[in-house]
Amino acid sequence: MKRYIVQTFGCQMNVHDSRRIEEVLHGDGYVATDDATLADLIVVNTCSVREKAEHKLMSLLGTLRPLKDQRRGVVLAVAGCVAQQEGERLLTKAPFVDLVLGPDNIPELPSLLREAEGGAPPRARTVFDMDEPQFLHAKPREGLREVTSFVTVMKGCDERCTYCIVPYTRGSERYRSGDTIVEEIARLVEGGVREITLLGQTVNSWYEDGVAPTSRRVASRSQFADLLRRVATEVPDLARLRYTSPHPRHLTDDLIAAHAELSVLPAHVHLPVQSGSNEQLRRMARRYTREEYIERAHVLMRARPGLTLSTDIIVGFPGETEADFEDTLDLVRQVGFVAAFGFKYSPRPYTPALNLPDDVPEEVKSERLTRLFELVAEQQTAHLAALVGTRQHVLVEGPSRGDTGRFSGRTDRHEIAHFDAPAGHDPTGHVVEIEVTEAYKHSLLGRAVGEVPRGPLATSVKRGRLALPVLA
Ligand code: SAH
Ligand code: SF4
Ligand code: F3S
Repeated sequence: MKRYIVQTFGCQMNVHDSRRIEEVLHGDGYVATDDATLADLIVVNTCSVREKAEHKLMSLLGTLRPLKDQRRGVVLAVAGCVAQQEGERLLTKAPFVDLVLGPDNIPELPSLLREAEGGAPPRARTVFDMDEPQFLHAKPREGLREVTSFVTVMKGCDERCTYCIVPYTRGSERYRSGDTIVEEIARLVEGGVREITLLGQTVNSWYEDGVAPTSRRVASRSQFADLLRRVATEVPDLARLRYTSPHPRHLTDDLIAAHAELSVLPAHVHLPVQSGSNEQLRRMARRYTREEYIERAHVLMRARPGLTLSTDIIVGFPGETEADFEDTLDLVRQVGFVAAFGFKYSPRPYTPALNLPDDVPEEVKSERLTRLFELVAEQQTAHLAALVGTRQHVLVEGPSRGDTGRFSGRTDRHEIAHFDAPAGHDPTGHVVEIEVTEAYKHSLLGRAVGEVPRGPLATSVKRGRLALPVLA
């Protein structure tokens, strides 16, 4: 019996791909282990969106090397975005790696493993499936009725923001058919899943017709709102339907209307803005202005009262002045984001922004990031404090860590909420109404209003339990 371990870095796309890798391996007779020293196959699923992510990989590979020396026949595979970006070069940089596997080549893993096990030399397989895009199905986990699951609707990215390596590592946009998306969601929900997150690099650019005809189309031709309506109608037992990450230019009137119509959509959207300065947005090729973003955000928030927004922001992009950064802070205030991921600009290979000098000093980038986080933390604290005394619907994900009798889940705005269940009750997978009694820095505490269901609808799958421990 062969054992494998997968270590994942990067975004939800990679988390989802790792699950597909696991499925392919299970189909090939492998079983999971969480002890790297026992693994016959070690897969590192990588991210290259920032330089730091790549450094992390190199140091991890260094720590894995002795495992290969200790036991004969151990196969070390590098998958994901660094694999796609580096291909053969990775085999030169780290000659002890046996297999380099691009995101579109996951189905070929078993045959590549046969070759490696048969003594074939190290191999890089990083070919995009442009002609016949494949979307690996998410299967309900055997014996586990998960609360929440990802479903891919599109892959690749045609936006080509000037700083971003993703169009290079994930290729051009390819869309999955509405029928297969709805089928997969229906199957997962039958298997016990309560919440689906639709995934795509620009998830809301989705439309039915396969591969995008031109890579720089100006107006959005998204049919994403129709897809959401189809899922809501055809899978009525689904409790929540999230999606990530939308691009602001595909936040169409129709999508905003869907947020007003469909109660299955949560009252929260993660809508990356990147900068609040028009000059910087132009240099980043984001294809909207700060005024357009603010206007769309406000229309969306009016369409679904109580809806909150979170975002991604890059600080220190080439040429960013103090005034540009102030514009970003001003936009953060005007939109009232309740959370934000902030990143220091990191020059990436093959990106157009490499032609611009990385001219914002490291200490200025750090200082701007700190100021950004302080502002967002203030807004988050104020937002959570204002919820004390309100009632919220929590989709229960399982017991809170460490606390017996206490359960946690997400409100429909994605806030983490804890509450106590009576002894012997496990409401995992149910939507429980709570009254918020206290606001912490990043979460809420409440008390259940009314009956707490006794038996679970789903198995509690805590991230910490599912994720494999960091290899050291
Ligand atoms: N497709 C998604 C997210 C892609 S990457 C989207 O467009 O929203 C996630 C985030 O990483 C981006 O939103 C951006 O904020 C950040 N990022 C991407 N490239 C970067 C770079 N070169 N330096 C710093 N941050 C970067
Ligand atoms: Fe990168 Fe821009 Fe595409 Fe997002 S939309 S993946 S930031 S190129
Ligand atoms: Fe990283 Fe690739 Fe995702 S670069 S952010 S793992 S698409």
